[in-house]
Amino acid sequence: MRANAVACAQKVTSAAPAKVLTARTRRTRTTIIRARAGAKTDAKKSEMGTPFSTWVLKQEMIDTIDNEHAIVLQSISVACKQIASLVQRAGLAGMTGLAGGEQNIQGEDQKKLDVISNEIFCDTLRLSGRTGVIASEEEDVPVAVEETYGGNYVCVFDPLDGSSNIDAAVSTGSIWGIYAGDSQCVPDFSTETPAEVEAKCVQNVCQPGENLVSAGYCMYSSSTILVVSVGEGVYGFTLDTAVGEFIMTHEKIQIPKSGKIYSFNEGNYDMWTPGLKKYMDSLKTGGKEKGTKPYSARYIGSLVGDFHRTMLYGGIYGYPGDTKNPNGKLRLLYECAPMSFLAEQAGGAGSTGVGRVLKVMPEKVHQRVPFFTGSSDEVSYLESFMK
Ligand code: AHG
Ligand code: MN
Ligand code: MN
Repeated sequence: MRANAVACAQKVTSAAPAKVLTARTRRTRTTIIRARAGAKTDAKKSEMGTPFSTWVLKQEMIDTIDNEHAIVLQSISVACKQIASLVQRAGLAGMTGLAGGEQNIQGEDQKKLDVISNEIFCDTLRLSGRTGVIASEEEDVPVAVEETYGGNYVCVFDPLDGSSNIDAAVSTGSIWGIYAGDSQCVPDFSTETPAEVEAKCVQNVCQPGENLVSAGYCMYSSSTILVVSVGEGVYGFTLDTAVGEFIMTHEKIQIPKSGKIYSFNEGNYDMWTPGLKKYMDSLKTGGKEKGTKPYSARYIGSLVGDFHRTMLYGGIYGYPGDTKNPNGKLRLLYECAPMSFLAEQAGGAGSTGVGRVLKVMPEKVHQRVPFFTGSSDEVSYLESFMK
């Protein structure tokens, strides 16, 4: 041991003076680092066990994302850790139940944890200094961030999805999507009226899902799992509570091409179109392979939980329109578009029943769309009944 230590010390003292890094040598080093990263990818070396923060830095190094996007992703992972810890303690810390009878802009009851989770997401994104505009399920309108000093990313999010399940300690989650800001439309607090700033925020947020640069969700369940895509496949990280870091446990998630599980709120059956009723009936006799084993029903009533299971086991999740709510219940911007991005990145599909969700151009911030997602064969089969 001692000999080694001395040898190292000698090496250090006899080393040539450090070279000053010129722009050229810096570039060469970067090229070498990227080439090495590329070589590892080529060799398909598993990244399982990689901490989320390391993975994000690697994405930056191989140019999948820029430095500012990396900071936004790190900030979101911190928000998710904070929400996970609150969700776990909700029953003990008096955080179950409604937030003083308040409703959000969509007329939905707000739970205490909806409000707290929204504050956590907003504060964390603000502090990152890299988001120009943020839009949340729990905010009336998208908000311009004054503390922005770079990046100008637009982040849309549902801070706590499935919150009606909270009081029963059933799975919940957070969902987010990240867009590049519109450089022609940067809100200016010093010269513009609040109405002008708001109009610019809305314009920044109203982008189709195909413009997403990344999306993800975090599920608060028997374990806390963060699933993310920066447009190069889908990766899942499980929170190691002992060290407080998300660790890669799911590499390049692929949704099975088909799967005999359906996840719909069938209580709404009577309000569905004849085509959709026929589809639902057909699943009970084997679906497109008529006469085979019927499909199994699985419905948590938390999109994140139902979607996560669908990603791993295959099948279909659906929240259709009905006679009461022609566009269904789920919101395009911060529920359906991010989930469709992830589904497509995992080889699956996200559809309104008549086309790709990612193609839908939002007209309103809290716009709803019928939503079907999961295995590509299952979504195509459903679409064949919706013509
Ligand atoms: P949120 O809690 O963010 O308002 O979303 C709840 C959504 C979604 O998570 C779930 O799939 C759906 O509502 C369940 O709705 P039903 O109770 O109508 O089935
Ligand atoms: Mn939701
Ligand atoms: Mn919510």
